Amino acid sequence: MEERLQDLQRRALAELARLDGAGPLEDWRITFLGKKGELAEVLRGMGALPADRRPAVGMVANRVRDALEAGYAAQRELAARAADEARERAEAVDVTLPGRRNPPGAEHPLQRVIRRLEDIFVGLGFTVADGPEVELDHYNFTALNFPPEHPARDMQDTFFLTGDLLLRTHTSPVQARTLERSAPNSPLRIIVPGRVYRRDDDDATHSHAFTQCEGLVVGRGVRMSDLKGTLLAFARAMYGGDQQVRLRPSFFPFTEPSAELDVRCIHCGGAGCATCKQTGWIEILGCGMVHPNVLRMNGYDPAQVSGFAFGMGVERIAMLLYRVEDIRDFYVNDLRFLRQFAGVVL
Ligand code: DAH
Repeated sequence: MEERLQDLQRRALAELARLDGAGPLEDWRITFLGKKGELAEVLRGMGALPADRRPAVGMVANRVRDALEAGYAAQRELAARAADEARERAEAVDVTLPGRRNPPGAEHPLQRVIRRLEDIFVGLGFTVADGPEVELDHYNFTALNFPPEHPARDMQDTFFLTGDLLLRTHTSPVQARTLERSAPNSPLRIIVPGRVYRRDDDDATHSHAFTQCEGLVVGRGVRMSDLKGTLLAFARAMYGGDQQVRLRPSFFPFTEPSAELDVRCIHCGGAGCATCKQTGWIEILGCGMVHPNVLRMNGYDPAQVSGFAFGMGVERIAMLLYRVEDIRDFYVNDLRFLRQFAGVVL
């Protein structure tokens, strides 16, 4: 019996030494140390021994069991450490590898100009409003004092969707919408940057889709001098503290009187250059006193309040500012063009 036990120990430990992963180790435990394992089987034979032999055999059996359990524990420890090391190797980060670069993007030049316009006008007490690009004929034309069949409608080549639904040709319909939904005669000071659409053939200075920024101020006793003072403050914030402006008479159905605003050429300072076609001045927007019909049609009383409005082409402002010569550069998304604006702060 002792020999059987010794033999069992030899075989068990020899086999244990050959094992590696956790799976076979568990199999080994069941084979040798399990309830139905070899050791248990030998021990069950103890009952058949004469009583005086039992203590000696029992001692051997205990030593064998201790040896197997110690061997098992040591092997488990080894296997666990090997697994830890393998996981650490797999999760290791090589801190000496060069990092991946995330080049900083650049704000689109049009977005940059819009943000600048918003900053300036918000600083003057305006709020930013908007309206739909798919617009009703009513707001795009009728509510802005374009009579039906009026030739002024032809000034703006319109994409019609249905008889009275169109792509807005300017941001001015937001004037009518804002007046209409405001309490009658309540004061207003808004700007409206947004996309507009015209049936134009695209070239260096024309685009079928472009950006405008509208402005509208309404209140008691608002005068033409308020218009000029506000636009002078805008021009100086945009182009520099000594910028000069001038108003030239013009025509728009929704303003009376109407004007265009020129600034001193921002490239030559007024001396005359190709940009200003030697005139020393550059036109940047249309403006005027809100036509009484526009106030009346949209729920305001022109006997109580008056207002001024203006509208500018954002691409035009951006082209002058950044000396961009082709309006299409803003839309074709050539990264060589756009990257030039990375880090530019106007
Ligand atoms: N809506 C005009 C256009 O697209 C621009 C304009 C002119 C807007 C005068 C105004 C304004 O608000 O007062 O040509």
